Amino acid sequence: MTAVLTWLGHGTWLIETDDTKILLDPFLDDNPASPVKAADVEADYILISHGHFDHIADAVPIAKRTGAQVIAIFEIAQWLSQQGVENTLGMNIGGSVPLPFGQVTMTIAYHSSVLPDGTYGGNPAGFVLTIDRKRIYFACDTALFEDMVLIGKPRLDLAVLPIGDLFTMGPVESLRAIELLAPMMVAPAHYNTWPPIEQDVEEWALNVRHVTTAQPRVVPPGGKIYV
Ligand code: NI
Ligand code: MN
Repeated sequence: MTAVLTWLGHGTWLIETDDTKILLDPFLDDNPASPVKAADVEADYILISHGHFDHIADAVPIAKRTGAQVIAIFEIAQWLSQQGVENTLGMNIGGSVPLPFGQVTMTIAYHSSVLPDGTYGGNPAGFVLTIDRKRIYFACDTALFEDMVLIGKPRLDLAVLPIGDLFTMGPVESLRAIELLAPMMVAPAHYNTWPPIEQDVEEWALNVRHVTTAQPRVVPPGGKIYV
């Protein structure tokens, strides 16, 4: 089975298996890089990495409309329940949960996390999705950290890394992250949404080819990656 990833701009991804749609960090209506609006997206599951608006802005309306189960760290799952989202699954870093489409593991991330109304959001996180023996890592918003070595075992088929700098690791640190993770493929995210995180992604891809063993997969918003 092939998993199909569609980049919806910034940190937002749609992951599709044969019969399941998983939406990561929905930020669409106020996202200048998004090719779709929140009202046009379908989802069976919604994953939330942390509480910042550019990762959670459209989660509540999409969850209410679709009935998708929202998976997030415990504090964010509780907050979503208080916003009227009925189907939530709270977990925490290091934990995994088996689901019909595969397994979701919550990983560490070095960042911050507060919800749009100021509520404490717990720790920020990343995710490893294991779908039909394929391992896909979403670092989400994070700095470089050496424990990426652990996340890279067993072998990752794809790692999705932020390269925008300023709020997360930038292009230079991402190359070191790729060395630690040693994935088969790597895709960039969290860049070119606004001027402060503009990056030359073609130069980044050239550097990935020259100094790492991973294959870069660069797509425009709306573009697809097959894993
Ligand atoms: Ni953030
Ligand atoms: Mn962010």
